[in-house]
Amino acid sequence: MSGLKIAVLISGGGTNLQALMDDISEKQLPMTISLIISNRSNAYGLVRGKQQGIKTAVIDKATYPDRNAAGMKVLQLLEEEGIGLIVLAGYLEMIPEEVVRRYRNRIINIHPSLIPSFSGKGYYGERVHAAAYSRGVKLTGATVHFVNEETDGGPIILQEAVAVAYEDTPKTIQEKVLKLEHRLLPMAVRLFAEGRLRVTDNRVEILSEVQL
Ligand code: GRF
Repeated sequence: MSGLKIAVLISGGGTNLQALMDDISEKQLPMTISLIISNRSNAYGLVRGKQQGIKTAVIDKATYPDRNAAGMKVLQLLEEEGIGLIVLAGYLEMIPEEVVRRYRNRIINIHPSLIPSFSGKGYYGERVHAAAYSRGVKLTGATVHFVNEETDGGPIILQEAVAVAYEDTPKTIQEKVLKLEHRLLPMAVRLFAEGRLRVTDNRVEILSEVQL
């Protein structure tokens, strides 16, 4: 089933990638993950993609003259595949401005906190949950947003909160938040594919139905 062609960019285990693959196949959605790109050759998400017969590529900036050259290689692969939506699922590299420009409001990222809390430079993976734990927040959560030039600064699409108990640790907080991520990311991708996301002044309106 073709429809929207998606590229998923990863750096790690790929549980968000897996959630997206499962959602597409369970619901028989009119979209395809055509390409998985990792900046790390040992990312288990690559194994997950290969198990589904999805084309994978490793673009490690250490093997390029500079970050921009690696970014341009990513852009080349995206355009060769006719990608309509880029999903960042635990991707730990910056997206070059040229890619953000070409794919304005067509790059979706999942972040493991309620942006703007614990977001921006230096806030990724377990560091986010360690900061939430140390601050003693009673609520944290997950955010899906469009990517712009500012780290974690793009228009917010969906958010969901979860309570943090005194007994929680950064690890148990991460487990709670991952459950939200695995639901929110596929939901946001479906809304995008249905043409139901309208961005105005860094705010996102979720349309009740497709406005043709
Ligand atoms: C998730 O916590 C996600 O929020 C963050 O990186 C992690 C990726 O996990 N961006 P996985 O590789 O999808 O399991």
